Amino acid sequence: MDVHITFKPSGRRVQVGQGTTLLQAARKANVYIPTRCDGKAACLMCKVHISQEWAVHAGQPSDAERRKLGPLLDEGIRLSCQARAQSNVEVMIPEDKLKAAVRRQLERQAQEDELW
Ligand code: FES
Repeated sequence: MDVHITFKPSGRRVQVGQGTTLLQAARKANVYIPTRCDGKAACLMCKVHISQEWAVHAGQPSDAERRKLGPLLDEGIRLSCQARAQSNVEVMIPEDKLKAAVRRQLERQAQEDELW
């Protein structure tokens, strides 16, 4: 059975077989998710967010994922290399940390410029 995975914020959508990891699906959709351990639940770089409404569609966390994420699981954080699509699911890709820092700096600068 095939399922559809939608990646936010880009809105890219891909069709994959049920049980495909979200990381594999992202690669198929040309959505970048950083990794260093190549899917071994070791680097924690592949975190994604899945809202409560979609959580059940990403399957139960593996033991490795539970150990690595702990309480972050309750916030909807999953390791994309471990979470497997069980049915159609929507996945939020967190903003790159460097891009987020640059964006915050630009926003601060714009606020300061408005004050002058
Ligand atoms: S790719 Fe390293 S933890 Fe998922």
